[in-house]
Amino acid sequence: MNGADAEPMLETEPVLRTDYLGLHLKSPLVAAASALGESLDNILRLEDAGAAAIVLPSIFEEQILLENAALENDLTRGTESFAESLDYFPGTPSLHHEMEHYLNLIRAAKSRCEIPILASLNGATPGGWVRFAQEIEQAGADALELNTYALATGFLKTSAIIEDGLIDLVLRVRQSVQLRLAVKLSPYFTSIPHLARQLDDAGADALVLFNRFYQPDFDIENLAVVPRLTLSRPEELLLRLHWVAILYGHLRAELAVTGGVHGVEDVLKSIMAGAQVVQLASALLRHGVGHIDTLHSGLLRWMREHEYTSIRQMRGSLSRRSAPDPSAFERGNYIRTLSSYTLRYKNLQQY
Ligand SMILES: Cc1cc2nc3c(=O)[nH]c(=O)nc-3n(C[C@H](O)[C@H](O)[C@H](O)COP(=O)(O)O)c2cc1C
Repeated sequence: MNGADAEPMLETEPVLRTDYLGLHLKSPLVAAASALGESLDNILRLEDAGAAAIVLPSIFEEQILLENAALENDLTRGTESFAESLDYFPGTPSLHHEMEHYLNLIRAAKSRCEIPILASLNGATPGGWVRFAQEIEQAGADALELNTYALATGFLKTSAIIEDGLIDLVLRVRQSVQLRLAVKLSPYFTSIPHLARQLDDAGADALVLFNRFYQPDFDIENLAVVPRLTLSRPEELLLRLHWVAILYGHLRAELAVTGGVHGVEDVLKSIMAGAQVVQLASALLRHGVGHIDTLHSGLLRWMREHEYTSIRQMRGSLSRRSAPDPSAFERGNYIRTLSSYTLRYKNLQQY
């Protein structure tokens, strides 16, 4: 057989497919809840750019309830934090359409997109979480992310009260919808494994680690406390890797990483820690939605070079269960990390 007749060597393409929340995704690259998902045009652009699924920006109960006459009662009854948070939504008259607008966005995205559309809800009252979750389910979302971003500012509220409230809310929503539920958490809990296990038992189908904590900044000229959103940096990923690696293999719930996923290596590390998917916001806002394609081809290239055939094959390979040295996730790591730092100059006067 001469060279021209020879069969070209068949290179099998690594398989990027992954499952998440009962959905079959073409890759682990999911668009996180962000301003990018606010309009149908952008949602379509994200799909064209290769997003495997899209999480819509959160609808906040404060936005919805502005339409509700009961709100006034709540305010006069003195639910202070709720009343305060209404300040974040200026221009109240137009906001009574918020929920309908959100439900229409779900319906429109579902009718135009092939990829799964996940809704995101940030409730403020137990009844609100349930009612709006039900409406979101009826609108046809493929799954629901519960954005549990909340701040503990009460001096009498113990961590146990806060965690019980969180578990109770997941239980309530679980009992009232069939939708698969992801719970997006803050990293500021004393015992993440214990909380994760309880959320798992309460019916969370996935845990999304972690929401970023947006601290306000001080405007010292105008003596004002102002909101400030900076995009994430890749260093933020390490916190996520740590906890996903520890949780992996111990829960029924799946794990998703959000926060600090910017490059191909960040995606690979997240999968190796044990994530089913990564969720991207900052990298897309910084580089544009075309970045999804860069990540996609970068993943394929890396996997080919390292002879991985599938995402599944690498998942959890650096989790605490599978890592060659699990103590890297434990106390010993603290001591090793501190002593691993080598001084640039021997003479301290040079610093
Ligand atoms: C402009 C912007 C808007 C966001 N809106 C939401 C939101 O509505 N709900 C939510 O759960 N997270 C929201 N996030 C957080 C992202 O979903 C994501 O979890 C976080 O930015 C960390 O991922 P990253 O490092 O890729 O940015 C937002 C982030 C940005 C930058």
